[in-house]
Amino acid sequence: MALFSKRKKQHHPVIPLLKDMHSHLLPGIDDGAQTVEESLDMVRAFQAQGYTKIITTPHVHSQRYLNSTNDIMHARDILLEAMEKENISFPVEIAAEYYADEHLLTLLEKNDVLSFGDNYLLCEFSFLMPPVGTDIIVKEIKNAGYIPVLAHPERYEYLNGNVSIYERLREEEFLFQANLPSIYGLYGPGPKITFEMLAKKGWVDFLGSDAHDAATVDLLNEITATGVVQNIIRHGIRNHNL
Ligand SMILES: [Fe+2]
Repeated sequence: MALFSKRKKQHHPVIPLLKDMHSHLLPGIDDGAQTVEESLDMVRAFQAQGYTKIITTPHVHSQRYLNSTNDIMHARDILLEAMEKENISFPVEIAAEYYADEHLLTLLEKNDVLSFGDNYLLCEFSFLMPPVGTDIIVKEIKNAGYIPVLAHPERYEYLNGNVSIYERLREEEFLFQANLPSIYGLYGPGPKITFEMLAKKGWVDFLGSDAHDAATVDLLNEITATGVVQNIIRHGIRNHNL
């Protein structure tokens, strides 16, 4: 036996995610599933990946998808009815992904928002220009009793992975939800690099699929098994408490 035998490399078992908290699978109300058949395909895909629960989050955006809570609940009823018909038993909870603008502030004032888990509120910024007044938005979200969760911080390419801006958002007490497809390069190299930076900083609180179709869902376990994602999960991820 060699005197200096190599220490055996430790292989950790892959930890699955099991709970997703960001997707667009309600039929016909945003840029996700357009028909109830597509919605069912997505639900079946989550089941096939071994997920035990999903929280789906249609867009609420005053310029593009002006979905009221009633619209969202109506779409949910259509999905649940179709699932029952197809004998699909699977927990689908409903929240929303709010575009962070004045419309969100109005909804907060009326206490007309759909949160998830422990009063988490998912919101997103513009993909085109840097956000203004994030401090005000955070304050209003917190005043209304919710915890702000910023969707896919790695995808706002105008931030160019600028650490100090993310630092400021953390100081403002945004939690971050990174998209699993980012680390897979599905949105290009920028979001992948920023995802890695956020992971290194320990700034990923939630992981989400942001799936708009079943094909993305089919990739989830493969993406979850990658080293970067496994590290995030091992260091603690809030998905598990949902
Ligand atoms: Fe989304």
